[in-house]
Amino acid sequence: MKNMDMRNNIFLKTFGCQMNEYDSELIRSILSEKGYTFTESEQEADIIMLNTCSVRETASRKIIELVNFLRHQLNGKPTLIGILGCMATDQKLNLLGKKSKVDFIAGPDSYQKLPELIEIAKTKKQSFDFELSKEIDYDGIYPTRKKGVNAWLAIMRGCDNFCTFCIVPYTRGRERSRSPQSILKEARKLAAEGFPQVTLLGQNVNSYHAGDYNFPRLIKEVSAIKGIKRIRFMSPNPKDFPNALVETIASSDNICKHVHLPLQSGSSRILDLMNRTYSKENFLTLVSQIRKTCPNIAITTDIIVGFPTETDEDFVETLDVLKKVRFDAAFTFKYSQRSGTIAQKKFKDDISPDVKKERIIALNKIQRNISLEENQKCIGKTVEALVEEEGTEKECRGRTDSFKIVSFNEKRAVGDFVKIKIHDASFFGLRGKLVD
Ligand code: SAH
Ligand code: SF4
Ligand code: F3S
Repeated sequence: MKNMDMRNNIFLKTFGCQMNEYDSELIRSILSEKGYTFTESEQEADIIMLNTCSVRETASRKIIELVNFLRHQLNGKPTLIGILGCMATDQKLNLLGKKSKVDFIAGPDSYQKLPELIEIAKTKKQSFDFELSKEIDYDGIYPTRKKGVNAWLAIMRGCDNFCTFCIVPYTRGRERSRSPQSILKEARKLAAEGFPQVTLLGQNVNSYHAGDYNFPRLIKEVSAIKGIKRIRFMSPNPKDFPNALVETIASSDNICKHVHLPLQSGSSRILDLMNRTYSKENFLTLVSQIRKTCPNIAITTDIIVGFPTETDEDFVETLDVLKKVRFDAAFTFKYSQRSGTIAQKKFKDDISPDVKKERIIALNKIQRNISLEENQKCIGKTVEALVEEEGTEKECRGRTDSFKIVSFNEKRAVGDFVKIKIHDASFFGLRGKLVD
């Protein structure tokens, strides 16, 4: 009650990627420590904080609309609104000033300053800090995680790759790797708290380096921690995927047999314009090497259609990779020009919305068929799944080690490992019966 009087009750909403989810848990920890409380209701909140994403224009637009909506809904109530995360660094110039509906702004490296920023905002002065740092890695701050199956664990921050389409190196700044000792300490604590799954996060985990640790060594040591049943990681960049990592995955029972390997385009010409520094052939060779060392590994990907100058022939190259690799699933995006990126400075966004739409529809159609056929291969088999969310007697869901969704009609507790005999498959996942 005391805190409510002090106008310290916070509603925090998270947009964007897993790194933002993790950051929101850091923010909860930093602010709880200072006596702030959290609520699930916007109406009850004294402070609304949006942890935002800028990766595509639609993501940014959604937040601006939400801020306008919230101000309207609050109808003069003195609730503070803060913008955190990637839009804070990307859109700062649009968010600053007297006309702004936003009271405080904090970039991804400024979360320890939040208590200070909030106190200034309470005096009706707009406050902000979007300075990016080469050092801040929040080491020593233990995120306040929701109970459940998965714990996010950031092993690095920022990105130095400068893929030409991507805003992330500008919104999150330079790449930094956290100390392996502190990552391992955090992982041990997660195991002790009973999280069955840990997902190691970085914009490009394969560039992790700290002292004599590289990513394969780090993940191997995480996998040796007793109690962690599943380890996932994202994302590796195909440009520097070492065989040592595939060998570690293959030889460790608790590292999931799944890699998310973002292709972006199957045309070597477009990949070059994207500054991905690998070719179509490099990607295909890497996939064969991964499958040779770890035959049943699931591979998922990200693809962008309609990058500047992409011709029908370039697009056909992407489809060709899709058919050759047969990804288990693909996340597909229409190219969205981001202000300040190299692609925005160098190229015109010259592929029309109609063509982008046609290409993404064609791509999704082919991929859905592939996903369906790959999933159908599981029919008749018994798979192990980890129940990740609260289900009902009629519908309970888990995920396989290979990241496939498995539905079954019996209630099991979150965190249970279940064996399911598969009798049905769609492009989206598998369905089966519980085997005792
Ligand atoms: N660091 C991750 C990517 C993070 S962004 C990696 O390299 O794997 C997640 C995905 O969003 C990217 O893989 C890409 O497919 C997509 N994306 C990024 N910028 C984009 C843009 N400007 N337009 C459309 N999609 C984009
Ligand atoms: Fe963006 Fe490329 Fe860095 Fe991924 S690796 S965050 S796509 S610049
Ligand atoms: Fe993540 Fe979006 Fe930032 S994808 S890194 S929150 S721009």
